[in-house]
Amino acid sequence: MVHAEASTFANGQTKAQVYEQVLEQAEALFEDQRNWVCNLSNASSLIYHALKSLPPPSSSVNWCGFYVLDPDPKKPSGLILGPFQGHVACQTIPFARGVCGTAASTQKTQLVLDVDAFPGHIACDSNSKSEIVVPIVKDGVCVAIIDIDCAELGGFDGEDAVALERMAGLLARSCNF
Ligand code: SME
Repeated sequence: MVHAEASTFANGQTKAQVYEQVLEQAEALFEDQRNWVCNLSNASSLIYHALKSLPPPSSSVNWCGFYVLDPDPKKPSGLILGPFQGHVACQTIPFARGVCGTAASTQKTQLVLDVDAFPGHIACDSNSKSEIVVPIVKDGVCVAIIDIDCAELGGFDGEDAVALERMAGLLARSCNF
């Protein structure tokens, strides 16, 4: 049974605790569901509300979502906007561009403390000051990326990277892309 309460996070928890809840709830939600639209939608809600429940800078999250491999044959190396929480965002991103494209092409997490210091950063929203992008890799192919923006500098750290990489692994195993 799916409940809105799955993405209700008690105040006063540590980052480790809220990410554990995110991963536990995600695993439960994905148990009988492999559709990527459905699972990435619920994952964006879980991560967004988890970060919002934490003290600053995590609570200053202003965008949380996914880009997936663009199925358009005219764009063989591109990403297209997937499910997210937040304001309207860039629709397509080539693999060679931005924080998202870099994570997709290198298959490595990009932890960006100051977006202005990242060459080629794509500013969908001028409020975003820092960003983390984690690739979702399935059978050696980057099928999607997790992208989270924060309205404060240094919004993310190694703890976010490790937890989000676990989430990326879970999504790779749990979804048909
Ligand atoms: N800043 C990203 C673009 C996507 S938005 O942040 C939602 C980038 O440089 O790839």
